[in-house]
Amino acid sequence: MSNGTYRAKPGDGLAFVSGASAGIGRATAIELARRGFKVVVTARRAEELNQLAASQPDRIFAYPGDVTQAVEMAALIARIESELGPVALAFLNAGLSLHAERDGFTAALLAKTYGVNIGGVANCLEPLLAAMSQRRRGQIAINASLAGYNGLPGSAIYGSSKAALIYMAEALRHAYRPQGLTIQVVNHGFVRTAMTDQETDFAQPYKIAPEAAAQLICDGFTRGGFEIAFPWQLASLSKFIRALPYALKFPLMERALSRAKLRESGQ
Ligand SMILES: NC(=O)c1ccc[n+]([C@@H]2O[C@H](COP(=O)([O-])OP(=O)(O)OC[C@H]3O[C@@H](n4cnc5c(N)ncnc54)[C@H](OP(=O)(O)O)[C@@H]3O)[C@@H](O)[C@H]2O)c1
Repeated sequence: MSNGTYRAKPGDGLAFVSGASAGIGRATAIELARRGFKVVVTARRAEELNQLAASQPDRIFAYPGDVTQAVEMAALIARIESELGPVALAFLNAGLSLHAERDGFTAALLAKTYGVNIGGVANCLEPLLAAMSQRRRGQIAINASLAGYNGLPGSAIYGSSKAALIYMAEALRHAYRPQGLTIQVVNHGFVRTAMTDQETDFAQPYKIAPEAAAQLICDGFTRGGFEIAFPWQLASLSKFIRALPYALKFPLMERALSRAKLRESGQ
């Protein structure tokens, strides 16, 4: 019917948010509820989810789970749909960035990060794509990051997991468009959460509150299109740098990074 132009409305079904026990996911769940959706929230910390659901018992519903567990996620999504109805909009947001990565690259850190950031998205995608394709209607947004555009020092693992999500979303967008599904990618900059609070060793320009990010993300769900990117200053710069040949890109990045270091050290 809609050929990838579908945008979910509250009357169409539930909104599903992963990684909703804190930060951007929690703020987005609250914003979606404010915009009239019944919102299903998931993450591992049941207590945080239950508190969130208790704040709006007729709008927010807690379904704790671990996105790295494929069988558990498939069963969870099936249970949600049988108990509350179809998922019309999914925000696949659960993710982690391990501070230990700044000390050096290890395969173990990669396995843990990819397990949540890529595997966790895949474990939600599989049952959601199956259910939505059958209905020939649905909207799925994957939270990647502007960090996925260019290789950044200290972010080989986190950044590459987000680059993989951008690729995945692009490919899925083409594949599922003919079936009426809308696939979006969210690429945003710094947001004030536990994830960025742990990082004190690099600059975080244009950092915004999770509530402000949630508004921009939900505006992007309503607007449709493929990418939801902000703030525009960092998004434009990241895209510009990505388009450069390496002979220009590397010296430019090195200069920008050493300037940022100098600014930080107050020199
Ligand atoms: N903050 C930023 O500046 C920024 C920038 C670009 C992109 N992002 C992306 O935005 C997303 C949210 O990040 P945030 O900043 O809001 O971080 P956060 O405050 O640390 O929240 C992360 C969320 O992911 C959940 N999560 C982690 N592992 C999980 C697992 N195995 N199963 C289920 N849920 C899991 C956490 O819940 P539990 O611990 O309860 O499981 C929590 O709700 C991430 O994908 C991140 O990469 C963030």
